[in-house]
Amino acid sequence: MARILITSAIPYINGIKHLGNLVGSQLPADLYARFMRARNHEVLFLCATDEHGTPAELAAAKAGKPVAEYCAEMWQVQKDLSDGFRLSFDKFGRSSSPQNHALTQHFAGRLADNGLIEEVTEKQVYSNTDGRFLPDRYIEGTCPNCGYERARGDQCENCTKQLDPTDLIEPRSAISGSTDLEVRETKHLYLKQRSLRQDLSDWIDTKTDWPILTTSIAKKWLNDGDGLQDRGITRDLDWGVPVKRGDEPWPGMEGKVFYVWFDAPIEYIACAKEWTDDAGRPDADWERWWRTDKGADDVRYVQFMGKDNVPFHTLSFPATIIGSGEPWKLVDYIKSFNYLNYDGGQFSTSQGRGVFMDQALSILPADYWRWWLLSHAPENSDSEFTWENFQSSVNKDLADVLGNFVSRVTKFARSKFGETVPQAGEFGPDETALIETLTTRIHAYEAHMEAMEIRKAAGELRAIWVAGNEYLQSTAPWTAFKTDPDRAAAIIRLSLNLIRLYSVLSAPFIPDAAARMLSAMNTLDTRWPDDVPAALTALPPGHEFSVPDVMFQKITDEQREDWQARFAGIRD
Ligand code: 2FM
Ligand code: ZN
Repeated sequence: MARILITSAIPYINGIKHLGNLVGSQLPADLYARFMRARNHEVLFLCATDEHGTPAELAAAKAGKPVAEYCAEMWQVQKDLSDGFRLSFDKFGRSSSPQNHALTQHFAGRLADNGLIEEVTEKQVYSNTDGRFLPDRYIEGTCPNCGYERARGDQCENCTKQLDPTDLIEPRSAISGSTDLEVRETKHLYLKQRSLRQDLSDWIDTKTDWPILTTSIAKKWLNDGDGLQDRGITRDLDWGVPVKRGDEPWPGMEGKVFYVWFDAPIEYIACAKEWTDDAGRPDADWERWWRTDKGADDVRYVQFMGKDNVPFHTLSFPATIIGSGEPWKLVDYIKSFNYLNYDGGQFSTSQGRGVFMDQALSILPADYWRWWLLSHAPENSDSEFTWENFQSSVNKDLADVLGNFVSRVTKFARSKFGETVPQAGEFGPDETALIETLTTRIHAYEAHMEAMEIRKAAGELRAIWVAGNEYLQSTAPWTAFKTDPDRAAAIIRLSLNLIRLYSVLSAPFIPDAAARMLSAMNTLDTRWPDDVPAALTALPPGHEFSVPDVMFQKITDEQREDWQARFAGIRD
């Protein structure tokens, strides 16, 4: 049994996330967490809301609420939606927690003690129209690297380059659009990332198993001449973690807060402390996941995120950890994702384009979305959501293949043998062949899940469902029953057991359907089918079962057209 620490990139607090956000981090992380738990590993799965920075302040102002109140409310909204999608976090924390305040200030203090913080008087963009300094992402302009015209002051969305606002060509305020900007002097703390360049490079070089998408982005910014700049880690804002040096005040930095991208990844750690503090447990219980001097050296730490987050997780956050000189756990594996597009364009939070988590759950159960999103995860390239494709996957994979199998088997069994697993009949060559197919495919499924090859895993799971249907089709118990009822009984005994097996294998993808299958089979036995023949006799003759309601409703053309029209526009 291994110990696996899993974090998903923490979603910004301002607003409900769209399906593109979901499939780029939280959902695949959940898939992996559920799979690893099912394999009996000890898992700690953490996520939180990313609450600081200007976006939160502005969204609160727009909602006419104090920012703390706004964040508390939005945390609850996001928590309820993540429950709705069955995201099985052990803790869904908040980057504004006291634990994160303390830990962020602690890291800053350590970095300063190690000579890695520099105080810099810098010129910063002030907007006369808005009456405030404009931090990072509230300045838009043209990217000096690729020429993209809507690059933000912290990063170019198009080429992923990390930027400083003053790098932008033709800058304007993203709040008001005003170009009446001036540069004023203000003092900030800089993290001397450049002096950690060699350490970071050596560390990344040990990660030979990382996906190409992850390493290529990391190396690009590490080796690209000006790639690894010293970074400002403080901001002139009210809302955030106040700048302190550990517990001590930081002279000259009064009224400033840490930059949101400095404190957000630290919340991965603080979240673990929130988790044990909630339960009144000792620090040792979270430190064994995070401190290599306290047991975490045998933890495997896996992070999930969209590609735009990769530089912060391969360079900035490791710089904080390495620079602290303390024995914190560094990430072992980063699974990153491309973008999911929406019906011929991009999902966009700022433009309200696409389907958002609350809207999705208002029209269909979580499993339908989980299945489509995961089986079309944007792993090797961007992928696209279309309503046609969604309809066809749900109807074919879930309704025609899995749902139909469960329904045919249970209904036929009930009508011919009653609601108990039939006793009669022996397994023969058809069963041997099926067991062989399943054994091979389950091994492939496990290997893909372990490697986080999500599409391949989904494909293998679908093939496992198909194998059951083919078995049923070729053995035709409804025909056999007429001449050889014992033979039909053997087929049904195996098929009912196959429903339990499908429940166990499918649960990481479609947990609600899996739970319904298990409850119809009247069992709590979720043992993983390490031994397929044994797994197919788990429900013994005489064991009672029931026929579940329709597992998956098909999406009609009318519904599809209705949703297509409803979600074509822009959300307000
Ligand atoms: O891109 C985002 O949605 C960020 N809120 C992710 C932060 S991940 C981490 F570093 F905390
Ligand atoms: Zn660019």
